[in-house]
Amino acid sequence: MDHRNGVKVLTLDDFDLKGKTVFLRVDMNCPIDPATMEISGTKRIEEAIETLQSLKEAKVVVASHQGRVGNDDYTGMAKHAKVLERLMNRKIKYVEDTIGEAAQNAIKNLEDGDILLLDNLRLCAEENYEFSPEDAANTIMVKRLASLFDLCVLDSFPSAHRSHPSIVGFPQVIPACAGRIVEREVRNLDEIMTVAKAPHVIVLGGSKVPDRLEAIKMLIKNGRADHVLLTGLIANVFMRAQARIKYSLGIKKEDEVVAKAHALIGEYPDVFATPVDVAVDKDGARVEMDVRELQTGDKIYDLGPKTVEYYSKLISGAGTVFISGPAGFFEKENFSFGTKALLDSVANSMATTLVSGGHLTSVLKQQGLEEKINHISTAGGALVLYLTGDKLPMIKALEAAAVKHRSA
Ligand code: 3PG
Repeated sequence: MDHRNGVKVLTLDDFDLKGKTVFLRVDMNCPIDPATMEISGTKRIEEAIETLQSLKEAKVVVASHQGRVGNDDYTGMAKHAKVLERLMNRKIKYVEDTIGEAAQNAIKNLEDGDILLLDNLRLCAEENYEFSPEDAANTIMVKRLASLFDLCVLDSFPSAHRSHPSIVGFPQVIPACAGRIVEREVRNLDEIMTVAKAPHVIVLGGSKVPDRLEAIKMLIKNGRADHVLLTGLIANVFMRAQARIKYSLGIKKEDEVVAKAHALIGEYPDVFATPVDVAVDKDGARVEMDVRELQTGDKIYDLGPKTVEYYSKLISGAGTVFISGPAGFFEKENFSFGTKALLDSVANSMATTLVSGGHLTSVLKQQGLEEKINHISTAGGALVLYLTGDKLPMIKALEAAAVKHRSA
């Protein structure tokens, strides 16, 4: 497959897969309901199926992370195996191990057509750190497992921005290619990047605030964001930086992220749009108010109607719109207004449109608006960074693997 800059990335079509033992890195990092610890959205598991079907004559070892160490959504992969089993209506083997003897034996015992899911890769300490590709090849994970595989298939586009051993390490030592999701994402995004017109409007929400702050700066610097319309937790951080919210938000590293937001507003004063009204939770009820009326401790769960109108006007004048992350606590029906209304504005705009992240893609599906969007991706942070024009570690690893394959 040709990729931006004319570099080719290998795909599954470039390999004879029959009887091969394949390491398939997917991204089954799903939303987890903290009350039950059950998977509350299975979209990313469903997406893995296409590549698994292309690998039906191979012995496939599926590997993914789930959540971050210390967070509520950090859990093992047994539930994911059950969901995959139900969706594919076939046996999925599962081993409660990642790189130890149990995992190695399970891999060695596979037969053609078998699918084995490993446990959460982040149980292995190394998978929580970023490495250069050379150092990643030297990790215990890669050293222990690589010799068991004939091919590494990278299909975890939502984690393409992570230089973790499972993503950049294996391609250093064994042949590697893109899976079907990565193949499609790269092809579609390259096409969109060539037609994307100004003004570029970015609608940014979600909860991974430090990641978002880094990406915003690059998007603006690289001419990919003329207007940044802030929603969700990141909007609250900017409103705190503007001293329009006068109380602590109670989030991790608050002072640091607020200071960064403050610096960004100072550097690019005309780029950011922040809410004028919001909806807060009062004993479970939705109460809309002007941002100036907020009282200490008010829990902001959604945008208000004036903000939606203001943002929708900017969206309707855009050449390209990229929306990532929900606008509020959309899982609660009475706080889903902002998320749904903004998706509606994006779907009905004349612009080239991109919708990013697992949450928004499921709301879009519920609203029956998928057909009206140019590109839909379950990737969040990876897609934001892809749009900055920077080459992601996974893409670099795949390009290097293709160059090595051609010169072999
Ligand atoms: C995501 O959901 O954005 C990816 O799975 C990456 O997760 P991470 O931000 O915890 O690395």
